[in-house]
Amino acid sequence: MRNREALQQRGEKVKVDRLLTPTIGIELDIPDVNHADDEVIWTIRRHLARHKVVSIRAQQLTEDQFLAFSRRLGSLVRLPYIRPMQDFPEIIAVLKEEDEVDMGVFGGDWHSDFSFLECPPEISILYSREIPACGGDTVWANMTAACLALPDDLKAFLTGRKAVHVGAPYGVRYAPEPQSRFEGSIRMDRHNPEADAEQAHPAVCRHPERGNEPVLFVNPTYTIRFEGMDEVQSRPILERLYGHATRPEFCCRLNWLPDTIVLWDNRSTIHYAVNDYDGFRRMMWRTTVCSSRPLPAMP
Ligand SMILES: [Fe+2]
Repeated sequence: MRNREALQQRGEKVKVDRLLTPTIGIELDIPDVNHADDEVIWTIRRHLARHKVVSIRAQQLTEDQFLAFSRRLGSLVRLPYIRPMQDFPEIIAVLKEEDEVDMGVFGGDWHSDFSFLECPPEISILYSREIPACGGDTVWANMTAACLALPDDLKAFLTGRKAVHVGAPYGVRYAPEPQSRFEGSIRMDRHNPEADAEQAHPAVCRHPERGNEPVLFVNPTYTIRFEGMDEVQSRPILERLYGHATRPEFCCRLNWLPDTIVLWDNRSTIHYAVNDYDGFRRMMWRTTVCSSRPLPAMP
């Protein structure tokens, strides 16, 4: 909480309610994002760049209002593989029905959203519409904090190195199959030649809004190897990086309530949807803000 006073002294319209942890995550008290002026939007963006995950509770939005709010954060992107809501092509309904049991869940392994794209999303936004009575949390890890704390040998290994990301077969390994019988469940369109292509990104990127702040940009779902190395050679190093990056001191865990909006800096975090709520329905709306190509961190 030592940052709270400093944040409040800036005279913001957004009341800083609490940090989720000192390392990652902040909850902002915004009465109604439908009436957010430019200063509030700018404040959200600034907290997002610094704290990586921003939670805003108790919001009442229609689909159109959710889109309008999302667009104020940046241009929205239509994502490959996942079929969006029929009448709202920029919204994905992230849904698990109560009778979808003993199976995986969308996002149920550590990942950065769509890191296999040439321009991976900058911001992901989730809005909880229906949540389990208990469970269904999301966990994020701060990949800048993890990067800064890397052992020297891994820092040296990663210098100037690229990692290869791939979305084919689509990395959401535990998503419902395309033939899912659930009308509203996530439906996948696989075999997208453009999105299926391998994509190499710097293993350590620079954050676009925070100078040369480094970001470890690999994740267990989509990163398959380092450029110039095969998967067998790469695997032990990647596993070591993941073990380091997901240490609890780099993470926050959010307990969803209905009507919560959470935004995260998708380029400097990885996240994990905890699949511990079989027997309950969970439904979120999701939008995605596009971005530019990741740039390497400066030496
Ligand atoms: Fe995700």
